[in-house]
Amino acid sequence: MASIGILLILTVLSISVGDAKTFINVQCKTENRAQYGQSSLLECVVRTAQDVSNVQIRVVTWKKKGVEEPLLVFNRGRMMANSRYSFAEPSWNDKNMNVSLLIANTAVEDEGVYDCMVMTNSGDNTNHTNLNVTAKYSVPTIKPIPETITQNTDGTLVCNSDGGYPQGQLRWFDEHNMEWTKSADMEVKKTESGLFNLSSSLKLMRGSVFSKYTCIVFNASRGKEDEATFEIPDKPKSEGHEREKGLDPASKIVAPVVVIGSLIAGLLLVLVLCRRRRHQQNRRQSATPLMGDRREVRTCESEDEGGDHQEMDTKCQDSLA
Ligand SMILES: *[C@@H]1O[C@H](CO)[C@@H](O)[C@H](O)[C@H]1NC(C)=O
Ligand SMILES: *[C@@H]1O[C@H](CO)[C@@H](O)[C@H](O)[C@H]1NC(C)=O
Repeated sequence: MASIGILLILTVLSISVGDAKTFINVQCKTENRAQYGQSSLLECVVRTAQDVSNVQIRVVTWKKKGVEEPLLVFNRGRMMANSRYSFAEPSWNDKNMNVSLLIANTAVEDEGVYDCMVMTNSGDNTNHTNLNVTAKYSVPTIKPIPETITQNTDGTLVCNSDGGYPQGQLRWFDEHNMEWTKSADMEVKKTESGLFNLSSSLKLMRGSVFSKYTCIVFNASRGKEDEATFEIPDKPKSEGHEREKGLDPASKIVAPVVVIGSLIAGLLLVLVLCRRRRHQQNRRQSATPLMGDRREVRTCESEDEGGDHQEMDTKCQDSLA
């Protein structure tokens, strides 16, 4: 009986010792996203069974799949890490179960799978996590070829958007939101840093050219990132300038002045002519005066010689009335 009891106790002990190895569990976020040029957080934490206390971490090793050298190694109090890598926890110690990795100044080639291996006084475990890098495309720019493109000429619009990752797409739309991407050629260039520069040329045929084109840059997951719009004049630019010249502010003032000025001049002319006519009539009347009017007419004439036409006119009228 006693021997069976001892055997049982030993079995339980050995089971518990064996279980201790599985009492820790490295849990990692499956997908980590980072912006190009910023820091990346690869999240992994050591989970322990509830009845395990005082867990002490002895070794942590972070490696990238396909890279021989470990990126970060903590081994019984000693730390070795390449310059861009560190524990995410600022003052990490071997009691801290958050063994997340921080990568500074993320590059495109940092994308990939990372292994995190942990050894503790209560067992070992390894897990892996992914890093995805994205870079935002620049606001697109549209350049016309030729520079003085119009709706009545053949031409090309070239749209550019640079420095994005992963590979995105440029799409074209007219002012009615009709898509013209199929009529365009897109060129993709990979820069040394792994980012993509996109360029799309849209050919325009005279007669079927719209007045407005929009170039939109979409990211790899087909999300709209940014856009640019180009308006195509329906007349050549030089003609447009001339028309604008005719409407510049100076001429806007000059034109009415000329119109009003000639109106005034015309009125004056009419006035002068009227006066002269009346004058001549007066003279004629004075040359063949009626008997009774003679005196008054003479008064009129003599005042005329004084030169004040305005006065003469009214007085003449008065006297003639
Ligand atoms: C681990 O530490 C990092 C940096 O302090 C923090 O951002 C993250 O939320 C922590 N993760 C967990 C699961 O506590
Ligand atoms: C794409 O753009 C959308 C909308 O801006 C955004 O939510 C998404 O995270 C982006 N995806 C990538 C891979 O950049």
